[in-house]
Amino acid sequence: IDPTAFSTALLAWYDDHHRDLPWRVSPRDRAAGRKPDPYRVWLSEVMLQQTTVAAVKAYFETFTRRWPQIANLAQAPESDVLSAWAGLGYYARARNLHACARTVHAAYGDRFPETAAALKALPGVGDYTSAAIAAIAFDEPAAVVDGNVERVITRLIALETPLPRAKPQIRHQAEQLTPDHRPGDFAQAMMDLGAMICTPRRPACGICPVDVFCTATRTAKAERFPIKEKK
Ligand code: ADE
Repeated sequence: IDPTAFSTALLAWYDDHHRDLPWRVSPRDRAAGRKPDPYRVWLSEVMLQQTTVAAVKAYFETFTRRWPQIANLAQAPESDVLSAWAGLGYYARARNLHACARTVHAAYGDRFPETAAALKALPGVGDYTSAAIAAIAFDEPAAVVDGNVERVITRLIALETPLPRAKPQIRHQAEQLTPDHRPGDFAQAMMDLGAMICTPRRPACGICPVDVFCTATRTAKAERFPIKEKK
């Protein structure tokens, strides 16, 4: 796969077909110079770790209305944050969220560190979340790999290696494909492609913007991928 040709095709599709989500800056506004707020990017990515986009939307609105900036969240009692989180599940995430807000407030003067490596040291921020924030908020060409992206990539290269063993190969391919220009939009385009076109069942290969790069759609059934290790 030629990375430049691939990201050009994917980003052109994203410009026209991206989902409008409350934490996003649209590609138009981005091109006009508007920058995503790292606080909103971080909050959305932590909420999205184990919860669907549909469920996260309302919680994101509630949180950002009540705590518009990280300093507000840092100064809130933990019990308020935990009760606002009720329904999202995995309460360790809410405790880490609050601890992270306190760290960024107290140790960094309300400004998130700007590299994936530094972000990863924050409570509740792992490989996925640090890469997502670095790419979306700070334009770092970090490879952002979630379940959607794993599915898209295993299909692109018709990867016969089963998950989870395939993870290093998938990451390597994601790093190859991630562009230096618009890495945050690229990451979100991969997620939107996985959510809207390259779906787990009955993928819409007929309208896929990157079908010419995809081995699975040519040689096999895309639905076969990813292959999973038998339990
Ligand atoms: N899932 C996790 N992060 C996302 C994002 N930024 N956009 C869409 N889906 C996501």
